Amino acid sequence: MEELDFEPGPAFARQLDAEDELASSREAFVIADPDLIYVDGNSLGRLPRRTVERMRTAVEVEWGRDLIRGWNAGWYQAPARVGEKIAQLVGAGPGQVVVSDSTSVNLFKLTMTALAKRPGRARIVSDVLNFPSDLYILQGCTRLLGDRYHLHLVPSGDGITVDQQTLFDAIDEQTALVTLSHVTFKSGFLYDAAAVTEQAHEVGALVLWDLSHSVGAVPVELDRWGVDLAVGCTYKYLNGGPGAPAFLYVRRDLQEEALSPIWGWFGQRSPFDFDLEYEPTEGVGRFLVGTPPILSLLAMESALDLLLEAGLERIRRKSVRLTSYLVYLVDTVLAPLGFALGSPRDPARRGSHVSIQHPEGYRINRALIEEMGVLPDFREPDNIRLGLVPLYTSFAEVWEAVDRIRRVVEEERYLRYPTERLLVT
Ligand SMILES: Cc1ncc(COP(=O)(O)O)c(C=O)c1O
Repeated sequence: MEELDFEPGPAFARQLDAEDELASSREAFVIADPDLIYVDGNSLGRLPRRTVERMRTAVEVEWGRDLIRGWNAGWYQAPARVGEKIAQLVGAGPGQVVVSDSTSVNLFKLTMTALAKRPGRARIVSDVLNFPSDLYILQGCTRLLGDRYHLHLVPSGDGITVDQQTLFDAIDEQTALVTLSHVTFKSGFLYDAAAVTEQAHEVGALVLWDLSHSVGAVPVELDRWGVDLAVGCTYKYLNGGPGAPAFLYVRRDLQEEALSPIWGWFGQRSPFDFDLEYEPTEGVGRFLVGTPPILSLLAMESALDLLLEAGLERIRRKSVRLTSYLVYLVDTVLAPLGFALGSPRDPARRGSHVSIQHPEGYRINRALIEEMGVLPDFREPDNIRLGLVPLYTSFAEVWEAVDRIRRVVEEERYLRYPTERLLVT
């Protein structure tokens, strides 16, 4: 549906819900407060009902009764087993994805690996829209390697997108690694990952994608696109829960000679031999480090089935419709109140969250949380980020969220809040 066909108002939103092929999947999630509009964008996915049951069994039976025997009853294989499920969401054949550590740590491991595979090249290319932790990791890697590398950050003309040709011009014969967020965290800009990967390969550079804001929301085809390396978190669209471990992907033909910079016993060929010398295990498992967080892994495992059952094609279809509807409402309801769109207009270049900008964005966001029953998140300097999750966000919620934002501004409710930032926004 084109933006032109939308209409404002709750009745039209209900009509969109009635046509929604994924409407019933909302019932698979815990909705503790039906009046709370959860549009956090998207730093923590909702809790699936089946995870509650799975956690009860994991805690009471597997930990409580089975105790240490759990390791031989499926815990040990969990990082690889759950990795294979995620592989299905990112277009990866078997044996290329494991769950381990945080996104930042995985980015460190794979960046160091990539740089070791391209000796003699001294350039790393990323962009100014990348998640700061990713850039910190890259800065730390270059420092660790004696400041031999130059980290080039491709600029953004509008703060929302990166011009593809400007990026291509930055990728040269000196480039060892191109590493970007597939969907950028603030504006939701979606890269053409296939085209960027191809361009990098043309000059012999490796590519490492951060899929944190795309996995589970946008179709990803790592094998088909020829991607070398990827990382991503699981607490957003994968509903893995707070602090759930991240995943990493290493293309099969790169694995044999790729060494992790962190040699831990879970990446060792036979950890329970307790050999004094490290020998990496076969395949992507060598990128594991220490004891994995089993409870989080088991929570995530049960949640992933929801996405696999819904299918990414349907998920993406609804995501585009949700974000297009929101963009329409921003234009018609919020723009007259001083809001600007902080995300791409073209749905083909947009992930599943939409940022709206307002000079009073921080205080408006506070008012929404404190008194309006809307939970977005705020990203400096003036972005209210609204995450729309196809499995549980309804069109009626999108309408209602916009209407409550309108009220906060029209009734000047935000004036009651200080401009000083809370610790976590
Ligand atoms: C795009 C992106 N990359 C990396 C991270 C950091 O992830 P972690 O805290 O798992 O290291 C985040 C966190 O939100 C993110 O959005």
